[in-house]
Amino acid sequence: MSAHSNHSVSSAQTAVESDLLLQKAREIASQFEIPEGYLQKAVDAYIAQAADSLNQDLERGIPMIPSYVSRAPTGDEKGVLIALDLGGTNFRVCSIELQGDSRYGMIQSKSQVPTEIMTGSLTSFINYLSDRIEEFLIKTHPDHVKKAKAGSKEIYRVGFTFSFPLKQISANSGTLIRWTKGYDIEEAVGKDLPQILQKELDARKLNLFLAAVVNDTVGTLLTRAYTKPKGCGPTIVGCIFGTGTNGAYSEPLANVKKFDRGVHPEVVDDDMVINTEWGSFDNDLKILPNTKYDAQLNLNTPNKDFHMFEKRVSGMFLGELLRLVMVDLYEQGILFTSSEAKQKLTKDSPLYTPWSLNTATPAAFHGDTTPGLDQAREHIVEKLGFEPTLEELQAIQVVAKSIGIRSAYLSAIPIAGALLHSKALDKYDTVDVGADGSVYEKYPGFHETIMEGLAKTDIGAEGIKRISMGIAKDGSGVGAALCALQFEV
Ligand code: GLC
Repeated sequence: MSAHSNHSVSSAQTAVESDLLLQKAREIASQFEIPEGYLQKAVDAYIAQAADSLNQDLERGIPMIPSYVSRAPTGDEKGVLIALDLGGTNFRVCSIELQGDSRYGMIQSKSQVPTEIMTGSLTSFINYLSDRIEEFLIKTHPDHVKKAKAGSKEIYRVGFTFSFPLKQISANSGTLIRWTKGYDIEEAVGKDLPQILQKELDARKLNLFLAAVVNDTVGTLLTRAYTKPKGCGPTIVGCIFGTGTNGAYSEPLANVKKFDRGVHPEVVDDDMVINTEWGSFDNDLKILPNTKYDAQLNLNTPNKDFHMFEKRVSGMFLGELLRLVMVDLYEQGILFTSSEAKQKLTKDSPLYTPWSLNTATPAAFHGDTTPGLDQAREHIVEKLGFEPTLEELQAIQVVAKSIGIRSAYLSAIPIAGALLHSKALDKYDTVDVGADGSVYEKYPGFHETIMEGLAKTDIGAEGIKRISMGIAKDGSGVGAALCALQFEV
């Protein structure tokens, strides 16, 4: 009898505890909610901040970098080119055959850049890239390498997708403004990285000519224009929602006051693609939401106080935000209360390790529709090493969803900004947006939530029916090749 009443007391207690947990989780989730009417105000702020930076370079503004790329591809381009792609933790070297007729073939090799290279010396970074390029060429184009080393003049054009804020000086040179996405090679800031790489490739006698250095968003814009399904309108924006987030669109040079055409007689077109680096929208947090978790996350990044929009939106950060919330709830004594959990959650456990959880964690929760949250449970067991309770999973799910939905809604801001600012919907019946990146591709409901977000701006529910937004696969490879074709050797 007494055993029975003890049991009911403790289960009543547990019920109270889990109610408290869910209530607390909902309270935190509400801090991530985007209020009605917010999105268009944020779009207005985005358009104003972007316009300021077209006039002059502003230390804390959105960089709005002229890319030197003007022409959209026709789909008929042909040729074999080498593409390099450095955008996050992977470095890819590709050989791309543009076949015309919107088709292409590609061979590639991928390597994971070791952390000590990401945060080491400039020389070891350049050597690392050059070693991978040389290995790839020896494997895939051995005759070219033999001839090149024997003094032949035949070259391959190279397009380099370098997905960091690079202040371009020309189509194939530019200085690094700052690192993003966890890279931190201090001596590289302010240096012309593409030309330093070109020098090293020359020293190795590989006969590679770096014709264009492009941002992944510029590549995505061009690739989508090359490969988009028949019947779509012109591609206005190319965007990335992956480890980082960013977008590119075309702007009349007459509006880009900071670009002095007198100094660039080689630029003949009237429009130029702008690499916005919209990750730096609202670095001063005049309009972006800022929960205590956002603030905590920012403190622990090498680019503290910069790319503040990106830190609320992209793949590198969503798992970290959720981790910070879980640590908070754990420390309040209301999450992971079992003795097994407490035993595992030492200060060196993954829960306490910054950046140990990536976007796969909120995605696993967000997408789990099973009553027992089986997928989420498996994920926690795998990542943290213990069995959570159903109530704990439910509470984490509430927070995970709020982080994911906020990210997708915020993503709508610069897309709407580019569409409204360029008046594309007034000029064309239908317009197209190309996107790439793991978050866009894999996060449950991301595309749909962006579209919902766009409908909440001045574009409206009717306007979004005239927008096709879709994947541009491999903008970083094909796009770089398409750009490299545009410039003379
Ligand atoms: C970061 C980089 C930017 C890149 C984006 C997506 O925001 O600064 O250059 O385009 O990530 O990869």
